[in-house]
Parts: sequence; structure tokens; C-alpha cells
Amino acid sequence: MGFCYNNAEWVSLSRGKKTNKKAGDFMREKTKLVDEKELEKQKDFSDKITSILESRYTEKPLACVVTYGCQQNVSDSEKIKGMLSAMGYGFTEKRTEAKLVIFNTCAVREHAEDRVFGNVGALKKYKLANPDVIIALCGCMMQQKHIAEKIKESFQFVDLVFGTHVVHKLPELLFKALTQRKRVFELPDIDGVIAEGLPVKRDNDKKAWLPIMYGCNNFCSYCVVPYVRGRERSRTPENVISEFKELVSEGYKEITLLGQNVNSYGKDLQPKVSFAELLRMLNDVEGDFRIRFMTSHPKDCTRELLETMASCDKVAKHLHLPFQSGNNRVLKAMNRCYTRESYLELINYAKELMGDELSITSDIIVGFPGETYEEFKDTYSLVDELGATSLFTFIYSPRVGTPASKLDDPISYDEKSKWLRELLVLQEKKSAQQMALHGGKTFKCFVYGHGKTCDNYLAARTDGNLIIEFEGDEGLIGSFRNIKVTEPLTYVLLGELTE
Ligand code: 5AD
Ligand code: SF4
Repeated sequence: MGFCYNNAEWVSLSRGKKTNKKAGDFMREKTKLVDEKELEKQKDFSDKITSILESRYTEKPLACVVTYGCQQNVSDSEKIKGMLSAMGYGFTEKRTEAKLVIFNTCAVREHAEDRVFGNVGALKKYKLANPDVIIALCGCMMQQKHIAEKIKESFQFVDLVFGTHVVHKLPELLFKALTQRKRVFELPDIDGVIAEGLPVKRDNDKKAWLPIMYGCNNFCSYCVVPYVRGRERSRTPENVISEFKELVSEGYKEITLLGQNVNSYGKDLQPKVSFAELLRMLNDVEGDFRIRFMTSHPKDCTRELLETMASCDKVAKHLHLPFQSGNNRVLKAMNRCYTRESYLELINYAKELMGDELSITSDIIVGFPGETYEEFKDTYSLVDELGATSLFTFIYSPRVGTPASKLDDPISYDEKSKWLRELLVLQEKKSAQQMALHGGKTFKCFVYGHGKTCDNYLAARTDGNLIIEFEGDEGLIGSFRNIKVTEPLTYVLLGELTE
């Protein structure tokens, strides 16, 4: 049986023919694949749940999956929904209509955690009035011991808690939750595994997320991700290409390759394969589509990768390259392993290769412990120099167990917020300048939905991830079109169809 990645069906691991000669012979150094026997076991549990649901409910029971955080979580939730769909669940956005509510949580900042606690707490009344409803929590937040303890003690109405390394065991865990009177906690603290062949129910039929690797080895001193997602492990090019081709043949037009640090893709494979090589193999796949990727780490971003971006026609000219801080002392304390100068060198090389076509975005942390206003000003000046089209800016949030959380942090939150506002004023000016460069240009754009500027406007995305809104017929949604920019605004371009 071949792979099928957009179907609510379990697929055999004994994958049929190899899809690409060059990609066919890669092995994992240490196999971390969930084996076929385990997946068969999960499929059996899935069938058992189907029988339980049929005997308990006259109508298709509904599940509500609530996702917080990054695209990796969105992708995990698509697998969770795939497995639930195979069991016989339908879906709802309304929590109080659901027989099963799953919160897929994020641990990157405190704010995200607070929202989860608030939203889960709000379901207590519903659960107590409807004891047959299952409330489940999963994702990065659950992988932290102090959080799991808090759920155990203070949220006793939660039935099922599972970690990031056992998503594929959802059928078995849900079966236990449905049939036992005990609460189920499954939170192994391991380096991580890869489960191929899980069912996937994608949120969109033109735009897809495709994880190429999992975990992170970088241990940036502020970040909880390496502790909750385990070590870096790459899917083989064979599996990535197979899923990719499947998506293209199903009509997906924008495929985003995902990893915490895609630039270190393939270092754990035998023989090693670089991310640039993978991009070239995907670019060679036939069809009309666009490849995006995130996130890149400046310490592993090679000149070869930038050259590959520039030369591959289907690879979007959008580089999301987080620099976090523009000050070398702070970068060192963050354990980022590059300097302001080496970052700018990479950016300048990318600009040299791709010119105005290139769009740059970045992540920034303001108020890292011990950061002074003068050091923050280095971040400010880097933003000024960079010319990013947009930025994702965060105030530092201490995370339990990370080295940064043990450092002195004398600057108040209010003061850090002031710094952040200064940065945002600057970025607004920079975004407007970047947008103004594009007045009168024509771009090949992917029309992805309805616009916000006017009722009858559609929204499209350029190669560089800029949004152009234009007047057009709904039937254009899901296709590539040439659109000419008529008026650049600060965050969006207005345009018109040229054909
Ligand atoms: N506090 C604030 N921002 C953080 N990020 C990661 N950890 C923290 C933290 N403890 C930000 C970084 C990263 C993005 C995904 O989240 O900028 O690139
Ligand atoms: Fe966190 Fe750094 Fe890994 Fe990104 S690269 S997930 S910021 S540790």
C-alpha cells in the first residue's frame, strides 16, 4: 500500500515503490521510527473506539480540537483530527457541542499557558454536567512536570493528558479514557520518535504543512522547546518527497516545510543530506506549486541554502531568519552562536542574490534578563538596517528549567513594554518603506481567500509572503494569478488582475 496523507485512514508503513532514485537510500543513523506493529496496535484501538462510539451514540459524536502556538502544533492537530476522523468523530468549533475536547497546548511563553488554564477551567461546568464528555490536554505545555502536576491536582475534571512523543498513541489512550474510570496520564520523557503513516485531516485544501524534522538541539538559553520536543530527528527524504508528491497531486499549491531549525535537516541521516539538497529535490517535482519553509537558524543557514533559494523557481523568496537580538553580548547569553555581523553578512548575501524579490521576516525578544537599554538599542538599529517586511516581537518570558530563567532580571515588564513599543513604531515605518518598493510591480500570486480592505476584495500572497488585495471573482481562490500593485499601504498592497 502507498502513502496517503490527506485521508482519515491509517496507512501501512511498508511503503511501496521508491519515489526518487536520489532520495531512495537514506537511513536513519539510529532508528527512531515507530514500528509497524505499534501502528497496527493503534489501528486496532481505533476500530474498538469506532464500535464504542456506535454503541453509545445514535448520531456521529463531535470532537473539538483547540490549537495554540506554532505551525508544528497546527500540523500535530491535523494528525490528531485525522486519527479522530478515522475513529468516527465529526468536528465542531463549539466546545460545548463536543463529546471530546482536546487542547493542543504551547509552552513557549507564559501568556499562552495562561490562556490554556483559563480556557480549560471554563469547561469544568460543562464536564460536570456531561460526565460522558472527555476533556484531553496535549502538546508542549503538558511535557513540563510542574504543569502536569498542576493539571493532576487542580483540574481533576481533565480525563486525559498526553505528551508530544505519544501523539500516535491517541487511539490507545482515548480507549483507556473511554473505558476506565481512572484518569490517563501518558507523558514519557524521551528523546523523541517519528511516526509515519498516521492519518491526516488538513485544515485547508490548497495550503499544507509538511514537517520534515522534529525537535531541537540548540538550547537557546531562554527557550523551552528542546526540553519539551526532544532531540532533532529528520524524516528521510524518501518519506518527505512521497508526502510532498501526494500533496501536489491532490492540488495543494503552497506547501510549507516545517522544523524548529530546518537548516540542520538531515544531519542525523546516513548518508547525510542537507536542507539545500532536499529543497532542490522538491523543486524538481513536477507541477504548479510553491515551496515555503520555516524556521531557519542563522548559525546553520549556509550560503549554499541561499543560493538554492535563489536558483529554485518554485522556492518562495521569503526568508524567516530570527535574529532575536542585535547585541553580541545578549546573543552570547542567549546561546545563539552567531554575531550581529555574521547575521548581517548572511542577509546581505541573500539580498545580493535575490534583490527586491527577497522578503525577510524575523523574531525578536525584547528584555532578555540583564539586557540594558543601550543593548536594546542595538536590536533597534539592526531592525533599522535589516529592512524586514514584518517582525514577530516578544517580551522575554521566563520558562521553568531554562538557564535564562536563573539570571537576574532587573528591568520591569512596563519598561520592557516601552522598549517594545519603540521598536514597533520603527518597524511600522520600515514595513511601509518595504511595501513602497513594490508600487507598479506585477507579481505571480497565490489567491488564498477573501480580503479585508473591501467586501468584494480577494487576498493573494506573493512569493515573498506579501499580501495583495484586489477585486476579483471568488472562483479565483486557490489559483496562481498575476496581479499588479496599484497602491502600497503599510501592511498590505492593493492591486489589480493583469489578465
Ligand atoms: N520568551 C519570549 N519569547 C520567546 N521565544 C522563544 N522562547 C521565548 C521566551 N522564553 C520566541 C523566539 C522564537 C519564537 C518562536 O518565540 O523569538 O523565535
Ligand atoms: Fe527554541 Fe532556539 Fe530551538 Fe528555536 S532554535 S526552538 S528558539 S531552542
